[in-house]
Amino acid sequence: MSDGMSNDSPIGIHDLSFATTEFVLPHAALAEYNGTEIGKYHIGIGQQSMSVPAADEDIVTMAAAAAAPLVARHGSDRIRTVLFATESSIDQAKSAGVYVHSLLGLPSAGRVVELKQACYGATAALQFAIGLVRRDPSQQVLVIASDVSKYELDSPGEATQGAAAVAMLVGTDPALVRIEEPSGLFTADVMDFWRPNYRDAALVDGQESISAYLQAVEGSWKDYGEQGGRPLEDFAAFCYHQPFTKMAYKAHRHLLNYSGHDTDKDAVERAVGASTAYNAVIGNSYTASVYLGLAALLDRTRDLDGRPVGFLSYGSGSVAEFFSGTVVPGYRRHLRDAEHRRAIARRTPLDYAGYRRLHERSFPTDGGDHPTPAQTGGPFRLAGLRDHKRLYEAR
Ligand code: CAA
Repeated sequence: MSDGMSNDSPIGIHDLSFATTEFVLPHAALAEYNGTEIGKYHIGIGQQSMSVPAADEDIVTMAAAAAAPLVARHGSDRIRTVLFATESSIDQAKSAGVYVHSLLGLPSAGRVVELKQACYGATAALQFAIGLVRRDPSQQVLVIASDVSKYELDSPGEATQGAAAVAMLVGTDPALVRIEEPSGLFTADVMDFWRPNYRDAALVDGQESISAYLQAVEGSWKDYGEQGGRPLEDFAAFCYHQPFTKMAYKAHRHLLNYSGHDTDKDAVERAVGASTAYNAVIGNSYTASVYLGLAALLDRTRDLDGRPVGFLSYGSGSVAEFFSGTVVPGYRRHLRDAEHRRAIARRTPLDYAGYRRLHERSFPTDGGDHPTPAQTGGPFRLAGLRDHKRLYEAR
């Protein structure tokens, strides 16, 4: 403890930035290929397009691109911990965060660790970060959520892929969102979505995963109430985990029904609509998804000063947490909405064949020298694999 701040100082998200991929596949191209009526994608699941990583992009390059602007704005002197949440890990032992630490030139006097519990991991990271800052308010924690969502070609999950990273700087007196106690927690052992170590693509029981998610909404909301949480009427808006944006609407209607409220269509739209803008064009970004929802909500809403927002983080398997955060007055001065819009607009559209070629790519496992084609226009790239080592570089 070095600066004498009281343990009661608010703690939360001081800055937030996201990055996504070089390429994008419009759902119209997927629908044309597989003969699906486009309304199923645009309306049924609420998705317009999905981000697709270039051959030289992965969770590390996206994470470093998301976090670099935070370090540029605030410096790294106070960052002693990096928590990297992902469920599309690139190594069974080494944390992806260590590569990011190196690419960003963070101080060697620091700790870096990777966390996993499906899409819930970044919320665990955020809560653990708050604990660390509570212990020493002079420190900041860099929380990163980065994922590539990949299902089998020609499977029902294929339309719900995507990729993005969100980086958040967590500290005292945050400029964006004060994270509050209590949290409502829920864990249940279900096999709705999983990825064994020997597979690249996830396995999923689609309908089971939707009901497991809705069960978790109930369970975490019930616990939130029992822990003395806010009444539903307090919240100006909600950020749900969005495997596809329609899920946020399903989840919110379920919460309203469960808690004995009307499910008025306009009220549901007001509660979740703004949070779906980025996810609808990026697709599922697993751990990053709920915080992409927060980015969209903050970037696109003008009147959140001092107002509570509800967060529902769900990770298959399953763990969920409902918690609240109050938006800090003046938050709009600290947003990165122009950069966020650029990250989405700069993506190059792929045709179906181009997407399929990227989907089918994987590194040989022979320990040879395997450079990647230079495709990304982003600030960092995965240059290749040599002697079983991933080689990253700043561009
Ligand atoms: N016009 C408008 N709507 C249409 C339509 C049309 N022409 N055709 C179909 N629809 C609607 C359907 O009525 C349905 O809507 P409702 O759910 O509101 O009834 C919607 O489109 C989807 O149709 P289906 O259920 O028939 O679609 P599907 O069987 O192909 O599967 C899915 C959809 C289960 C989401 C599948 O994409 C999938 O398995 N995705 C991966 C798993 C997933 O995302 N699960 C979410 C919860 S788990 C989680 O959140 C963790 C995570 O990140 C994975």
